Amino acid sequence: MVDNIMPNIVENVSKVVENVEKVAGGIGKVGGKVADVIQEAVQTTVSDTDTSGLEEFTLWNYMSSFFIHIALIVIVIGLKWQYDRNRYRYPKGPRDWRHISDAISFHRKKRENLLVLANDYPDLCTVITHIGRVVLLNDPSLINEIFIGRADLCSNKIDSYLENQLRYKPGKHLRTGIVFRHYDHNGQTIHRSLVECFDEVLTENKLDQIIQGQFEQFRSYLISNSSKFDVRHSTFNFALHILTQLCINRTFKYDDKVFETFTNNLYKISKTIHEDTVAKTSKTALTQLTGLSETLDINDTVLNYIQQWVKERHPNEDTSDSTVTSTSSGDILDSILKVVPTSSPHIDNEDVAAMLLDVVMHGSEMLKGALTWLLLYVVRHPEEADRARNEAKSQNYSKFNLKNAEKLSYCQAFVKEVLRVSPVVPIVIHSTLQDLRWRDYHLQKRTLFGANVYALHYSIHWSEPTKFKVERWIGDNAEKTPQNSYAPFGIGPRQCIAEKYLFSILTGLLATLLYHFKFEKCGSIPDPHEGTFGMANLPPSFSLSVQELRGDAS
Ligand code: HEM
Repeated sequence: MVDNIMPNIVENVSKVVENVEKVAGGIGKVGGKVADVIQEAVQTTVSDTDTSGLEEFTLWNYMSSFFIHIALIVIVIGLKWQYDRNRYRYPKGPRDWRHISDAISFHRKKRENLLVLANDYPDLCTVITHIGRVVLLNDPSLINEIFIGRADLCSNKIDSYLENQLRYKPGKHLRTGIVFRHYDHNGQTIHRSLVECFDEVLTENKLDQIIQGQFEQFRSYLISNSSKFDVRHSTFNFALHILTQLCINRTFKYDDKVFETFTNNLYKISKTIHEDTVAKTSKTALTQLTGLSETLDINDTVLNYIQQWVKERHPNEDTSDSTVTSTSSGDILDSILKVVPTSSPHIDNEDVAAMLLDVVMHGSEMLKGALTWLLLYVVRHPEEADRARNEAKSQNYSKFNLKNAEKLSYCQAFVKEVLRVSPVVPIVIHSTLQDLRWRDYHLQKRTLFGANVYALHYSIHWSEPTKFKVERWIGDNAEKTPQNSYAPFGIGPRQCIAEKYLFSILTGLLATLLYHFKFEKCGSIPDPHEGTFGMANLPPSFSLSVQELRGDAS
């Protein structure tokens, strides 16, 4: 029995030492030396051990081996922490207990915390969050310095949180998507190609046709669900139909069973990504500690469709021939395929599918968010909504038209104010590609930079920032708005590809909706400071009723 146990103990000890050395490898010689000392000490202990009483102490040995493991892990973590602390220098951040507890609950009370942090640290600060250490930039000029001036180093969209969450199948990572893509050659060329695609879609008036066609379906849906409709769910459906047509030039009927499954699955994915629960946070912390990754179930129904659409359009991927089939139609898929021949590393059809999924998911999620906020503010501020409706009526804006949307100054002001008080992306996060020396700081590779968009939108540069004031965007007032403190679509070369047109798109959508419908509360409606505040800022689920307007407004 003793003979059996001894090799086990020695084997266990060697494993412990081996593990310590592995981990210590990362933190240099100090850890290595600790491992040597521990190995020596343990070996001495083992060789000095009187083996005669071993059988009685088996449990004790196992327990001590367990505690040695734990002690070693603690020592190694402590050494690594000390090593990084001495090597890197981060901006100061909240250190006292009151603030640390705030920082830990950062994602939960994030709206509040983003404002408190910007107040306490008007320039920048470091906060420990559930997604890791974030250097939070609160000052517009510092945001520009990093997001524009150092975009070469700081446009990496992947953070460890997303890295763990967004695998769409084992081994294949969503970083191949564009919205969350690493900053590399492909990221830049695809960005340019998508911007060009948007310009072309607009010059040919295709966007007007797409949105108006989809609006007709949405309109019928609202009419048949006029007594009560779920705002988040129905705006997601509407947005997804627009995005599918923009991306793959296909239209689906609302009662198309296949597309309904696709929509429902995508909605489930979007909820999983944005949900902000204790369970999810602990899971994330665990994956970060253990290094294990979690595979998000982007189920077959979603990915297979997209892959199939890509294959139909680009059957000759092996020859890296970018020629597309006759279904080619100047949509977003075409513009991604256009860059395939010059891509480096090479983009295969699976990567193209991931990018397409990324754009469909981001675009519909964001449009849903913006439309949901717009409708919430419409019912919370009926007087302003009536003014916007009167403008749409007076300009006969019954159909979506991007050019004419620019003339709807009050509707446009309403949209801008909604996106100021409730930005859909409240904090834009990038990470550094390499260690970065900047100002007095020395930041480790993969440090997260967060542009505190939410705090910018509530900063002292605005008059009465907490008030919903559409007028601030009208006439002479508009010139006084602090443009540097407003960034609803991101900042720098990786900002939203649709940025140039989004105000007009949202203005046109709002005006068309107000032209045809009067929205009313259906039960209680949420406070704008409630709701999901994860990667996106969304109000909680709520429902409205709707009355179709015929003839004159109100
Ligand atoms: C109200 C609607 C929208 C909002 C608020 C919004 C917001 C944003 C923001 C803040 C970013 C920057 C992310 C970052 O820097 O990490 C972004 C990137 C992006 N957006 Fe949007 N977006 C919206 C709609 C759309 C639509 C409709 C599309 C597609 C048709 C789209 C496509 C993209 C793409 C492809 C990127 C990634 C650009 C790159 O990384 O180079 N967005 N968006």
